[in-house]
Amino acid sequence: MLLPQAKESKVNENLSNKMALGKSIKMYLTIFIATTCIYMVLYQYHMSRQPLAANELVKPPLYIITPTYRRPEQLAELTRLGYTLKHVLNLLWLVIEDANKTNPLVAHTLDRIGVPYEYLVAPMPEQYKLTKRAKPRGVSNRNRGLDYLRANATEGVLYFADDDNTYDVNIFEQMRYTKKVSMWPVGLVTKTGVSSPIIREGKLDGYYDGWIGGRKYPVDMAGFAVSVKFLHERPHAKMPFKPGYEEDGFLRSLAPLQNNEIELLADECREILTWHTQTKKNPAALPFNQTRYGNTNLAFIEKLLVRP
Ligand code: UGA
Ligand code: MN
Repeated sequence: MLLPQAKESKVNENLSNKMALGKSIKMYLTIFIATTCIYMVLYQYHMSRQPLAANELVKPPLYIITPTYRRPEQLAELTRLGYTLKHVLNLLWLVIEDANKTNPLVAHTLDRIGVPYEYLVAPMPEQYKLTKRAKPRGVSNRNRGLDYLRANATEGVLYFADDDNTYDVNIFEQMRYTKKVSMWPVGLVTKTGVSSPIIREGKLDGYYDGWIGGRKYPVDMAGFAVSVKFLHERPHAKMPFKPGYEEDGFLRSLAPLQNNEIELLADECREILTWHTQTKKNPAALPFNQTRYGNTNLAFIEKLLVRP
């Protein structure tokens, strides 16, 4: 029989055993939770470092054909467009100048922007240059771009992006998956305000444009993209030297093309993601006064100005 003191110490011992057990359970639980947390963090880090699945990593390439020509605004336009294109993955920028030779100032600007590019030249034929009437602007450049793609590209999508227009980068991700031809609205075209396919009950049902001019495709240059594979299937497709009918002529030369094969982008043509903007023309810069500024920074700046 235990004495009351011994009984008390036995009770105390039991109590402290229980407390110790409680403490160690708590400790193990803490260690378990902490380890689980650390593991989860490490796992997340590991997953974030894994390469993306092939279809996420390699998007179809985009070929952006940009006609350009020598004028005071040229480098400003290319800089603005170039930094827009810098937001777009897997893109080759084909900058094609209406000139007989390349301009080192343009090459320098393109290098500085850092978008992958090819800088080519394609002069407007003399007969059009000399005319007093409307000139077919950017046509030899764009046809040169098509020749480049026929020789160098097998897949992806081409788009004609004039150097002076404005582009929301979302349109590039949308056009990237074009199967044959895709179209969407272009803002700021003529007094009509917009040039757009008309969609009725989900189907292409004509075009809205300030000037139809008997065109089958009264669309703006900034409002359509074409698959490179489809271009290969139409080896004779090209742009005509016919002012006002460049887009129409080119799209017609892609025949046969059914209306239901034209993909309607920008939320089925309910959004404007490209604008036909125009830059105010600036006068050519006068030569700097060499005696006054010859030994200053202006002597360097003077060489950066594009004069017609
Ligand atoms: C509109 C269309 O959007 C053009 O695609 C079309 O070629 C032109 O009209 C036309 O029908 O002649 P618009 O804004 O009036 O364009 O013309 P610009 O912006 O002056 O020229 C279109 C593109 O061609 C630009 O990228 C421009 O840099 C280039 N261009 C212009 C040349 O390469 N050479 C020139 O002499 C003039
Ligand atoms: Mn323009």
